[in-house]
Amino acid sequence: MSRPGHPMKPVRKAVIPVAGLGARFLPATKSVPKEMLPVVDRPLIQYAIDEARAAGIEDFVLVTGRGKSAIEDYFDHAYELEAVLESRHKIQELAALECTNLEAGRIMYTRQQVPLGLGHAVWCARDFVGDEPFAVLLPDDLMHGAAPCLKQMVEAYRDLGGNLVAVMDVPRRHTDRYGIVSPGVTKGRVVEVKGLEEKPHPEEAPSTLSVVGRYILDPAVFTHLSRLEAGAGGEIQLTDALAKLVGTMPFYGYRFEGTRFDCGDKVGYLAANVVLGLERPDLGGEFRDFLKALDLDDAKGATRCA
Ligand code: G1P
Repeated sequence: MSRPGHPMKPVRKAVIPVAGLGARFLPATKSVPKEMLPVVDRPLIQYAIDEARAAGIEDFVLVTGRGKSAIEDYFDHAYELEAVLESRHKIQELAALECTNLEAGRIMYTRQQVPLGLGHAVWCARDFVGDEPFAVLLPDDLMHGAAPCLKQMVEAYRDLGGNLVAVMDVPRRHTDRYGIVSPGVTKGRVVEVKGLEEKPHPEEAPSTLSVVGRYILDPAVFTHLSRLEAGAGGEIQLTDALAKLVGTMPFYGYRFEGTRFDCGDKVGYLAANVVLGLERPDLGGEFRDFLKALDLDDAKGATRCA
């Protein structure tokens, strides 16, 4: 807890792991990083960056891998494209590119040369993080709501310190897809974390309260990640390193306000496109009319209304 005269260090840095293969989205991800798949017209990585900036994050490190260079190009100036758009007076299109321009030196890349797991990916960013609290955002998890999820967490963290992870309840049959919390006392949206387990079998899971892809972490986690011990699935798990911090410092889950779309899953990805598409002022009306006219029991309905 923060004490008068001992303000919590601000959360200024974010680690965004983007090295995953995206096997569930093959063939699309054969040559396009999964983080570049668009929801409506923005790639998943853009949603994560926007959310982090809204939470006050200033510096980013993306932990990349082979075949991910499209992400670096995306956050670079595209002089030729911009010149052509300018010469054609495409003002709106130029404005759409603005969110891709980060201040020079504020976004860095490091490679995870071997896919050894999420814990290892985060460990690759240890020198970037140094000795201050940091955020981790998993861009597959698209967080949607009135207040950006990480912003809600940063606000809660100011009073809590330690480690704070975004949590939500999932159906018991799905516990083997998530890090699962052993919950303690709950106060409003904040749940005490008494233990953490990576992907437990539904019958053995201590609860159905799952960690989703937003974390604010104490750099002490690197001490445990440095041991490079393999856990569930033979991978170096972030959850295992975090579990070792339980009891040594404040550790809480935060039941964020909003919806999480699992865009690493095809149905979750489609759902995100539908919901965010409907909310867009420039598209929503036409899209809503299309969906209303769609006969869900008749596959040919789609061709008739399109
Ligand atoms: C990772 C974490 C897991 C967490 C999940 C959230 O799993 O290891 O603890 O619950 O992200 O999306 P992955 O989805 O990479 O298998």
